[in-house]
Amino acid sequence: MSQVQVEYSLPAGDGSERIARAWARVPLVPTPAQRAEQKARAAALLEEHGAVLVAHFYVDGDIQDLALETGGCVADSLEMARFGRDHPATTLVVAGVRFMGETAKILSPHKRILAPDLDATCSLDLGCPPDAFAAFCDANPDRTVVVYANTSAAVKARADWMVTSSCALAIVRHLAERGEKILWAPDRHLGAYIASETGADMLMWNGACVVHEEFKGIELELLRAEHPDARVLVHPEAPASVVAQAHVVGSTSQLLKAVIDGEASEYIIATDNGIFHRMAQLAPGKTLIEAPTAGSSATCKSCAHCPWMAMNDLAGVIDALEQGTGEILVSEPVRARALVPIERMLAFVKAHPESLVAPAHGFVPHLGSA
Ligand code: 13P
Ligand code: SF4
Repeated sequence: MSQVQVEYSLPAGDGSERIARAWARVPLVPTPAQRAEQKARAAALLEEHGAVLVAHFYVDGDIQDLALETGGCVADSLEMARFGRDHPATTLVVAGVRFMGETAKILSPHKRILAPDLDATCSLDLGCPPDAFAAFCDANPDRTVVVYANTSAAVKARADWMVTSSCALAIVRHLAERGEKILWAPDRHLGAYIASETGADMLMWNGACVVHEEFKGIELELLRAEHPDARVLVHPEAPASVVAQAHVVGSTSQLLKAVIDGEASEYIIATDNGIFHRMAQLAPGKTLIEAPTAGSSATCKSCAHCPWMAMNDLAGVIDALEQGTGEILVSEPVRARALVPIERMLAFVKAHPESLVAPAHGFVPHLGSA
């Protein structure tokens, strides 16, 4: 099996941090004939098992297409959670990373939740170990604990609220308006963006996404100069120097919507390049340009593609359904407690559907107003 080593920051919760290493499996690349065969086999197995495929925008394009062709969904992490909860199927194959499968299990304990690869994780999840996070919470008991979806079930079990990038801004704004002080984890860039937009008092965990952290402000400025009419769309896990140049900052679904609805013909996109598959399908004729990362090929860490999202392949979908591999389990005490912040979020977005609209920025430094 071929693998890549991925370096990520591992904060201790006391302000110190170290660089840790994780691995990610590099899937075999099937031939076009093998892909077609695997896709047909996976579709037949989904039907045979009465299962539904719930996929994230960053996974392999064949898996995204298979999900849509078989009545599943391709979505952001908020919609994946809602779709999995509401769908009547008793088996969900969650193609994404582990926390997405865990969220599905927490919401639907009676369903069987399968992952194409159980080792597909996330640097934000890895970078926020439950014990260290619990100590951080214990040291700051006066703060409302708000955690990003990209965390383990055990970390969610310490939280008052869970948020995804679709609704994080609105929920923190709501809490700040109530005068609550926030303890935020784990993504420092998303946290900094929310704090600057809302003025909320936020004590931050210091985690980061290995993919979005690589986008670079200076290179983006140069690219924008080459494409002066392009709209710049940025996921808020990116650093402030990149977010500051955005016309739209938002979750994957909000960035997708910005391309579909946008009048411009060119878009520079600072998020995982797995999303280009769905963007190209839904906005044909528009030019989609990858925002620059720190390096290229051998010198970039993630090259704008999540090494763990990349572990989802059709072979994994087939194994999960045929052999029951990759079942996601969450212990009942943790599940019951982790349900609380998730349900709070879901109730909030149901009551405030307008909170899911991506904020437009409209100011681009160095080039004036957009
Ligand atoms: P979304 O909720 O915007 O899809 O983000 C999930 C994620 O992992 C981004 O890196
Ligand atoms: Fe985690 Fe980043 Fe991968 Fe999203 S892209 S799953 S935040 S490592």
